[in-house]
Amino acid sequence: MAMFEGKSILLIVGGGIAAYKTLELIRRLRERGATVRCVLTEGGAQFVTPMSLAALSEQPVFTDLFSLKDETEMGHIQLSRLADLLVVCPATADLLAKMAAGLAGDLATTALLATDKPVLAVPAMNVRMWQHPATRRSIAQLRADGVAVLEPASGPMACGEFGPGRLPEVPDIVQAIAAQLGRGTRLAGVHVLVTAGPTHEPIDPGRYIANRSSGKQGYAIAAELAALGATVTLVSGPTGLAAPAGVTRVDVETALDMEAACAAALPADVAVCVAAVADWRVEAAAQKVKKQGGEPPALRLIENPDILAGLCRATNRPRLVVGFAAETEKVIEHAQAKRQKKGCDWIVANDVAPETGVMGGDANTIHLVTPDGVETWPTLAKSAVARNIAERIADALDR
Ligand code: C5P
Repeated sequence: MAMFEGKSILLIVGGGIAAYKTLELIRRLRERGATVRCVLTEGGAQFVTPMSLAALSEQPVFTDLFSLKDETEMGHIQLSRLADLLVVCPATADLLAKMAAGLAGDLATTALLATDKPVLAVPAMNVRMWQHPATRRSIAQLRADGVAVLEPASGPMACGEFGPGRLPEVPDIVQAIAAQLGRGTRLAGVHVLVTAGPTHEPIDPGRYIANRSSGKQGYAIAAELAALGATVTLVSGPTGLAAPAGVTRVDVETALDMEAACAAALPADVAVCVAAVADWRVEAAAQKVKKQGGEPPALRLIENPDILAGLCRATNRPRLVVGFAAETEKVIEHAQAKRQKKGCDWIVANDVAPETGVMGGDANTIHLVTPDGVETWPTLAKSAVARNIAERIADALDR
């Protein structure tokens, strides 16, 4: 079964006793049609030889960042760019810590830092090293950075101890690799509309009312949906963010512009409304409002359309409509009421009380409200929240 035909895997072999199992892994990957190129760390070379890896992969093995020969054959940046997936196996505590810290002192860590491809880490180490708070921190950081980490197996270890830390069996690693390589096609042919960022509502030609939304969460969701193969239209209010790779961005300023851009983007299979749309716009003065002394000018506000509710009522309503609810109190209660009122399928609720630092920050604590109930997720980086939401959307469309 050539399930990996045309796929290229960069296998980074770390320095642990389990390194010998990568020889079997290379055979299984090649049987399934993958091209496997290996990077061997200095520690890894204590356990397996470059010769064994080269013989089984039928490819040159790369070991040294500063090797003129390796660099002329294939530069270290090329090495990670050419791969569809980077697999770190065995991922030692040392390698995981270096990855989490963004160190790049050798070829393996440089390739990992230089890549824009998915990374799967397959840890294997002594049970106490696996359970050490420092390793826990590395794993949490890597997962937040979007690295897939396979849980080690439990059992007797080469060091004589017993517990989690063993390298998973080779078929389980192959399955995890298949899942990673298949990610890019899960949402192929699915059009997703994402709204993100704040809206700016003009007071006069020079002034506007805005809010503190950074757009980070919406952009991260758009990026993750695109990574799963979706066609993504990102309707974005003003942010300082760059459009994620493979996403079509439509720039808008006001709520009315955003509503029109969303209507123009239909039909869509899924809509994810993350934008912090201003509830009201100012009855805009055509001329600059002047200081005239005496009473300050009054601003007359008009209610903006609810874009999310409008998408739910549209004749060509997307199959799945997801709204966000930023709340400062009774988060779940308010989110459930909002789901009913707006007519959307899911509400992703988050607590944005000032002490949480969610607005403009990098982390988020989510309650996912669906017709099946409420799920509370642990606090995660916005990138990890985005990845989970994208995967959940793909799961829902599979059903
Ligand atoms: O009512 P509230 O603003 O809390 O609702 C938040 C959800 O509704 C978000 O998904 C937001 O993108 C969407 N929304 C909208 N248009 C509005 C107001 C909110 O799409 N005018």
